[in-house]
Amino acid sequence: MPQIELIKDTLLRRHALGGAGRADRLVHGDAAVELASLPDGALDLIYIDPPFGTGAAQIGRAAGQRYADRADDPDAFVAWLAPYLAESRRALSATGSLFVHLDYRAVHYIKVALDRLFGRARFVNEIVWCYAVGGKSRRGFARKHDTILWYARGVDYAFYPDAIRVARRAGSHMRVAGGVQEKTDKKTGRVYRYPIAAGKIPEDWWTDVETLNHSDRERTGWPSQKPERLVERVVRAVTRPGDRVADWFAGSGTTAGVAQRLGRGFVTTEREAAAIALCEARLVTQGARLLAEGAAVPPLEVHKR
Ligand SMILES: C[S@@+](CC[C@H](N)C(=O)[O-])C[C@H]1O[C@@H](n2cnc3c(N)ncnc32)[C@H](O)[C@@H]1O
Repeated sequence: MPQIELIKDTLLRRHALGGAGRADRLVHGDAAVELASLPDGALDLIYIDPPFGTGAAQIGRAAGQRYADRADDPDAFVAWLAPYLAESRRALSATGSLFVHLDYRAVHYIKVALDRLFGRARFVNEIVWCYAVGGKSRRGFARKHDTILWYARGVDYAFYPDAIRVARRAGSHMRVAGGVQEKTDKKTGRVYRYPIAAGKIPEDWWTDVETLNHSDRERTGWPSQKPERLVERVVRAVTRPGDRVADWFAGSGTTAGVAQRLGRGFVTTEREAAAIALCEARLVTQGARLLAEGAAVPPLEVHKR
């Protein structure tokens, strides 16, 4: 991590947004500085979507919408990310969780690092997020999934399955009657009944959230922007309103936007000024709308570190 100056923290702007209490934080600077100043156990969820180590500049829609990715060198990538992971673990509450979003380039290296850091017993899920949009290959199967690693700080980690249930699809081996699906175990003859209205807890492979396409209303133009629906499932799964969420690699501010909309507090950091401007506009616009709808939106502070 870079040399840290703990005391440097300048409040640039404060948007009151009609609410009182603890302000949400949007921080322009290296995540390391904010992380080092956080007390132990301050956060309930950290979701990060770091640069993937493609070795190429990530270029968005408009001029200035770009960031330099890390080199395509797995060992260097692990060496760079590891301190952020260690500080993240320290900053999690006893029931808190870390979600790390990666792709095929580095996921296996970072999983080993996270097993060492959290202990293998604290690994909860490897979520495979599948999508179809984008280029195809003639030299192999198209690489159409990302991986999100979930590690819990402690044994009694928070998980709210009823907040993320999805519709049940009737399989050919199921009988549907009176709003209930029935499945008979061929070996034992035992009959299992599932009320359709209750839905089901999703598996660890997600095929029901498409990646953003160019004409999506949600698109800000920032490269590698993730869909709100994806991050929303993570936020709902492990936090409740009033909990505190963080994202150290904010980009266009997807995690902060979801947290604000769902009534969770947040802190998010980003190095690029152009991305900070996008985040700020996104959060102020949404905050004003939520306020008009009657929600008590906490103030938003923009800091420079
Ligand atoms: C993959 S993008 C995140 C995209 C984001 N999830 C979204 O939905 O828009 C990674 C971001 O991390 C930022 N970044 C890279 N290194 C950073 C650091 N050390 N501190 C803060 N931000 C950093 C980059 O500028 C880039 O915007």
